[in-house]
Amino acid sequence: MADEEINCWKPAADDIHFGKPTTDEINLMKSKRKELDVKKPMTDDLAGITFRTTTAEDYDDVISVRRHLYDGADYIPYRYYELLEHNTGFAGFIDSTMVCFMFATVIDDGESILLRSIRVRDEYEGKGVYTRLRAFCMKNLSHTANKAVFLISSPTHFEQLCRGSAKLVFSRHTMMFGNTTKSLRGLLGLRDESFLQRVDSSFLGELLRNRTATQYLFPENRVLINWIPYQLVPSNIEWMLRGTEVFSNAVPKQDKIKSEMMISAINVDQCEAGTVVTLDLFGDVCDEEMITGHIYIQLQKALDRFGDILVLYIIFQEHQDTKTVLHVLSKLGWSKVDNYAVYGVEKSI
Ligand SMILES: CC(C)(COP(=O)(O)OP(=O)(O)OC[C@H]1O[C@@H](n2cnc3c(N)ncnc32)[C@H](O)[C@@H]1OP(=O)(O)O)[C@@H](O)C(=O)NCCC(=O)NCCS
Repeated sequence: MADEEINCWKPAADDIHFGKPTTDEINLMKSKRKELDVKKPMTDDLAGITFRTTTAEDYDDVISVRRHLYDGADYIPYRYYELLEHNTGFAGFIDSTMVCFMFATVIDDGESILLRSIRVRDEYEGKGVYTRLRAFCMKNLSHTANKAVFLISSPTHFEQLCRGSAKLVFSRHTMMFGNTTKSLRGLLGLRDESFLQRVDSSFLGELLRNRTATQYLFPENRVLINWIPYQLVPSNIEWMLRGTEVFSNAVPKQDKIKSEMMISAINVDQCEAGTVVTLDLFGDVCDEEMITGHIYIQLQKALDRFGDILVLYIIFQEHQDTKTVLHVLSKLGWSKVDNYAVYGVEKSI
């Protein structure tokens, strides 16, 4: 698509309409409207809003939209330029102020538009800014995609969405931990983890072709890596491995899969709160030997990239016993800060 086509656009009423709303959607809109009437009066502030894609030159505006998000775990101030190489940045402006921003990417063989890093300037929240930004992106980014996919962690928003047209595609359990590199370095020591092997694109391709393995490792039919939900299709492999280190303790063989197979994927981001490490685990998290191997090898290999303060998010299938993970991490000095569910959501375009 030519850049001029998507670079500047003003919304018309029709452009933000996704089709005839269902009764549920109408009720939800009414209840939202009531909430907004009480908290923030609807105004005509958005009459002059314009949208366009962003460039490297927009960095200062992008980070000014929202500061200190997610208790300092927002990676946008540190990764904006890098993400811009493979994603499209979308922003909305009122006069010359950037009032909203998000990244969008076409994944899943062109079927889905992944939305992430969504943010709206505080004083413009609750007025439909994000809804319009999303409509602009959906209209302009792809003509093949039929849905938007995104991740949420707010239970209130999740309940709201379930009453509307969005579809829950999976949920996963997240635990958050804190530590320092000094303490971790002292406790990690040296271990022989040669039973673990690095997963490259051909390994992952083979794994995705093995139905027994995928049903066991990815029962939600999605691979969630670094907060991004992917369908199990080969065209996503490049995305899954970008900036991610993946290890496995077994090779997928024909149609056989040992239940001891486990995959781990790590991502490291420098953020305001410190070094944020995201570790996704696939498979059963109850075997101490296996969990220890994965956690040690991933942390050892990433150690050089760690600053003084560490925040770790560890994400795995819901309804699993967390005892072993907690035990292994406490031996390495990690203290648990929080836990919650994350939801993968799809919304038709
Ligand atoms: C979430 C946020 C972007 C909503 O912006 P907004 O302009 O107030 O939203 P709108 O007035 O357009 O209306 C609400 C829409 O936002 C969606 N929304 C609300 N909370 C959301 C969340 N945490 N994640 C994703 N979408 C959210 C609602 O579902 C609704 O869309 P729908 O009509 O399709 O259901 C804004 O509150 C924000 O910047 N929050 C802080 C950052 C954040 O939590 N980002 C989301 C995770 S990446």
